[in-house]
Amino acid sequence: MTDDTGTNVTTSNDERTHAEELAIVLNGLRRPVKRIATKYHYDEHGSRLFEQITELDEYYLTRTERALLERWMPAWVADLEPRTLVELGAGSAEKSRIILDAMVSAGCGEAYVPVDVSADFLGKTTDTLRAEYPGLEIVPEVADIKEPLDLVIGLPHPRWVAFLGSTLGNFDGVEASRLLGRIAARLHDGDRFLLGVDLRPGPKKSIERVEAAYNDPKGVTQRFSLNILAVVNHEFGSDFDLDRFVHRSRYNVAEGRIETELVSLTNQVVHFPGDHRIVLQKGEPIRTEISSKYDRTTIDGLFEGAGLVVDRWIEDDEGLYALVLSGPAA
Ligand code: TRP
Repeated sequence: MTDDTGTNVTTSNDERTHAEELAIVLNGLRRPVKRIATKYHYDEHGSRLFEQITELDEYYLTRTERALLERWMPAWVADLEPRTLVELGAGSAEKSRIILDAMVSAGCGEAYVPVDVSADFLGKTTDTLRAEYPGLEIVPEVADIKEPLDLVIGLPHPRWVAFLGSTLGNFDGVEASRLLGRIAARLHDGDRFLLGVDLRPGPKKSIERVEAAYNDPKGVTQRFSLNILAVVNHEFGSDFDLDRFVHRSRYNVAEGRIETELVSLTNQVVHFPGDHRIVLQKGEPIRTEISSKYDRTTIDGLFEGAGLVVDRWIEDDEGLYALVLSGPAA
């Protein structure tokens, strides 16, 4: 497949037909609690809005993760000498550069595989990276990381698979376990899985701090959140009216996660081609995202089931965020 920037990109997920995708979306909207899959946030516009979220004062996640990467990657990379970096959900690869720079400095870097669901975005990222890192082989993959991945064969080990941005938290428990299991199954001896996770509120971190990250006063998050409806309209020809929904994110203490919803401002009917109608009551939510928060116990539990063992865990001083390096269980 060739995208409009002329970059070669491979699609590794099994292709679903448009009709099958539509059926899945409609099923989600007919559940007792309506929902739309998170991946529809990330068309090119959505990906750009998300980049803006990462620059907000309230959104401490990106900044804290970057500081941790800058602080620890040079030493970890020099120590373990990964030759290939695979990054799941690479986006504009802002954070990968920190790891890639460390790989170049340590003299071990050979290949980088950015994996992302947005082909347009990935094409542009790839072009930029090829210019910036002439010594690295850049092998982009367009894929929804919820589906089985064919991680490129032939690239050298040790490999690191990085999954940053606390994106694991956007998966429900079953999906998270499945993804971790698939990653673990592909790791050889000496390979590593590098995970960035947002931490649960605790003695140092308040619930308010977490909620503020998902409810910025400038409304960037609201625009990002509503964009999912525009993407669904565009993909499937539905007629969601973005002015009739409002964004809401709240921390659910029992579940240890932020739950993001679009709440219907009126009683309304949304139409899809084929005479499908979705009825919404005033005040009824559509769940569009969960963002689970973790601690050492929840990570150890998830990893144990997947066949991963933590070998390094570090947090920032405020206890906001953690980087977790793990390898395949013996
Ligand atoms: N991975 C991001 C997170 O969980 C995604 C995200 C940030 C998000 N802000 C959001 C998703 C607001 C929905 C709404 O933090």
